[in-house]
Amino acid sequence: MFKEIQNKEKKIAVIGLGYVGLPLALEFAKKFSVIGFDINQERVEMMKNGQDPSEELEAEAFENKDIVFSADPEVLKDAHFFIVAVPTPVDEHKVPNLRPVLGASHTVGKVLKKGDYVVYESTVYPGCTEEDCVPILEQESGLKFNEDFKIGYSPERINPGDKEHTVANILKIVAGSDEESLREISAVYDSIITAGIYEAPTLKVAEAAKVIENTQRDLNISFMNELAVIFDKMNIDTKEVLKAAGTKWNFIKLSPGLVGGHCISVDPYYLLHKAKQIGYDPQVILSGRRINDSMPAFIAKRLVQTLIAKDKTLSKCKVLVQGVTFKENVADIRNSKVADLIKELMGYSVNVHVADPHASPNEVAHEYNLTLVDKISDDYDAIMVAVNHKEYVDQDAAFFKSISKEEPIVFDIKGIYEPAEMEGMTYWRL
Ligand SMILES: NC(=O)c1ccc[n+]([C@@H]2O[C@H](COP(=O)([O-])OP(=O)(O)OC[C@H]3O[C@@H](n4cnc5c(N)ncnc54)[C@H](O)[C@@H]3O)[C@@H](O)[C@H]2O)c1
Repeated sequence: MFKEIQNKEKKIAVIGLGYVGLPLALEFAKKFSVIGFDINQERVEMMKNGQDPSEELEAEAFENKDIVFSADPEVLKDAHFFIVAVPTPVDEHKVPNLRPVLGASHTVGKVLKKGDYVVYESTVYPGCTEEDCVPILEQESGLKFNEDFKIGYSPERINPGDKEHTVANILKIVAGSDEESLREISAVYDSIITAGIYEAPTLKVAEAAKVIENTQRDLNISFMNELAVIFDKMNIDTKEVLKAAGTKWNFIKLSPGLVGGHCISVDPYYLLHKAKQIGYDPQVILSGRRINDSMPAFIAKRLVQTLIAKDKTLSKCKVLVQGVTFKENVADIRNSKVADLIKELMGYSVNVHVADPHASPNEVAHEYNLTLVDKISDDYDAIMVAVNHKEYVDQDAAFFKSISKEEPIVFDIKGIYEPAEMEGMTYWRL
């Protein structure tokens, strides 16, 4: 397979061109013939015009690449090496929503030929590719797994907004459904990944490795959040505690914060789901999720308490929230916990203005029914800096005073500012 891909006798198709699929497809298209397939026609049109709908890549990334973008599944008939990079979200009950990954398996199954390969990159629970996806591929194609076609699993570790850790320079885990497939799939990835390949012994090991990377991070942050709640009650500055503890060689450096987005706050539910399915009720993973999900309500309550302590009437309060994306310097608002925080504040009848230089006003309106303000006001009762976008880092006491009605109340969720520089105002950080 690799030789034929190398000689451009066989094409690679990437199914799902989002944060993961598009950079990967373009990286492959530097060397090989690639088909970029996505069900979203509007996004495909943008990519045809050299535009990344996720706003991660510049126009140059599309130049001089051997790639065809299409929303027509017919074009996939020309491909022999399929990579599935569609979303794996959870539904409103926090249960894995496998519709996109199963839908993509139907699409690929319909065009699958003898000798083809299918590699899944979407984050799933251990066993999902073999138990849930392979039967669809077999059923749609009438072919036999591991005799007629082979599969692989290679999780992506890309980090939106991170210009340093890009697709080619992140070490990549690869697993195959047998020895030959592992060799071939590794060779294909190795030709574009400069950081190297780690060959996992089985598909399940690779699936489990990905899901625990993000679960570990979720749990570690949940511990920081629990500490932040405890120390807040004791009037101890958590950031100072972490700074002091961080002087020990083996203290892991992390900060409290809102855990949103498409990965860290979602992937643990995939592991939870599988564990429950096999009769084990996880305690640690779930408690971490609960703590992280409770942070928007905790922070909103602390701000409301602060406003009331200043004798303010909540229904007459105007609060500015700066930042609504799930993390700094990205446009991604999926699963933003700032949106939950804003809803909590609104639940107390507070008038909330939301600003974000990175988020799309249309997407914010569509996803959260919130309107971004074009121009901020000069009479706020409190300002909450919820995301450490680069635009907010240099804001100082004079700025906060200039947009506040009275003595400013500043809630610094990411701990961007130093308390000593916030004199003459009520300053709180997580
Ligand atoms: N975003 C990240 O930072 C990141 C990092 C590592 C792993 N992952 C994982 O990678 C996977 C993809 O995530 P993403 O962030 O790139 O998603 P995304 O939402 O950015 O993009 C997914 C794309 O897939 C398309 N799509 C949906 N269903 C489809 C289907 N049936 N057929 C073809 N196209 C379809 C959508 O239109 C969209 O363009 C997920 O499993 C995610 O957990 C994401």
